[in-house]
Amino acid sequence: MEKIVSLSKRRGFVFQSSEIYGGLNGCWDYGPLGVELLRNIKEQWWQAMTYRENVEGLDAAILMHPRVWEASGHVENFTDPMVDCKECKARFRADQIEDAMCGSPAYKGRKAHKCQAEGKFTEARQFNLMFKTFVGPVEDAGAVVYLRPETAQGIFVNFLNVQTASRQKIPFGIAQVGKAFRNEINTKNFLFRTREFEQMEMQFFVKPGTDVEWFTYWKEERITWFRNLGMRADRLQFHQHEPDKLAHYAKDAYDIEYAFPFGWGEIEGIHNRTDFDLSRHEQYSTKTMKYFDEQTKEKFTPYIIETSAGASRSFMAFLVDAYNEEEAPTADGKMDVRVVMKFHPKLAPVKAAVFPLVNRDGMPEVARGIEAALRPSLRVFYDDSGAVGRRYRRQDEVGTPFCITVDSQTLQDQSVTVRHRDSMQQERVGADHLLGFLKERL
Ligand code: GAP
Repeated sequence: MEKIVSLSKRRGFVFQSSEIYGGLNGCWDYGPLGVELLRNIKEQWWQAMTYRENVEGLDAAILMHPRVWEASGHVENFTDPMVDCKECKARFRADQIEDAMCGSPAYKGRKAHKCQAEGKFTEARQFNLMFKTFVGPVEDAGAVVYLRPETAQGIFVNFLNVQTASRQKIPFGIAQVGKAFRNEINTKNFLFRTREFEQMEMQFFVKPGTDVEWFTYWKEERITWFRNLGMRADRLQFHQHEPDKLAHYAKDAYDIEYAFPFGWGEIEGIHNRTDFDLSRHEQYSTKTMKYFDEQTKEKFTPYIIETSAGASRSFMAFLVDAYNEEEAPTADGKMDVRVVMKFHPKLAPVKAAVFPLVNRDGMPEVARGIEAALRPSLRVFYDDSGAVGRRYRRQDEVGTPFCITVDSQTLQDQSVTVRHRDSMQQERVGADHLLGFLKERL
């Protein structure tokens, strides 16, 4: 993890939020390469989920009517048990003390449960994870609103709006990508548990009785999505929630877990939410949430199958999964270790780098011409500094799938060298069909 966090900062994937002020715990900024990778992940998700006949997109507001969170159960149930250390004032989640460390510099390396055994901790009390703010100028109880802790509720309350506007028939889904906020007691493991993050959620509305079948369908679809984007199959697993650990709304739930360096961690949840959400919104809003089936003339409250992925957590899993250290020959024939991010080409932040072999003989002009021809279609990077071998390594480290070099032969026959990131093999390609060549392989 340390290597990945350091590479992320050095190469511009992720920076600590407000770093010059000492940072803000649980918040991170995506740098130039990070924002490309994150956008690519979200775009792949959007295509996979909404380029279908039976799934529509939505972008709901982050701030919602406060009654939404009463209906959803978040005001009552979205809590974690919290304890404080009376001595060092550190704060812990009561259910995670086993893995936590004492917060006092005087006891560096000491496990928190030892402090607990010595009676230093307060009684556990419930802490609601929703961030509160106020609408309008007066900060009184009537003006309280919450930053949404999940994007799902924006979908539920718009169920009939979307269904009517798009003339969808059940079964159909609504997909949304957006920010969510949780005032986590302890943030940890880089992007894994943060206070501000992004979710990619899809709610699929089905007829009761068909829910188990659709649950199985979406479970498989979602794990296949990660695999198709190159995530190693042996680092992915399902974890079924025990019946007594199910969320208050769920009939069945599986997590897709990834094998992070610190252990298995959830990157996506697939939940059978039954008719809980729509029934509760019907009860709290007193507006119908029922669906009328024109064919059978039946009226019913649909069941919901939810696929809820963290964009930020998936980002971190893709980063970890891509990271490789490999023995590789240098230009002078010696062996050394190259760091190579083997992103799937669809996710790679930069698709191709263009180099002139040397900065003379007209090579920079030709290379700039190639760069200009590719740039409207692909994210490309131009680099003319240092030896070509070092330029390759710099691109390997950020996962650029192709490096294109203009050399003396280019000046003779307009062909360039294309070097493949993973195999390090090189081949010659005519500059005039370079774009088609790259697009086919991307
Ligand atoms: N609508 C259901 C829901 O929000 P969840 O299991 O609480 O379910 C879904 O969250 C996904 O959101 C998780 O699998 C994870 O990827 C991401 N997520 C949740 N809390 C997070 C946090 N504090 N930081 C980063 N990602 C988080």
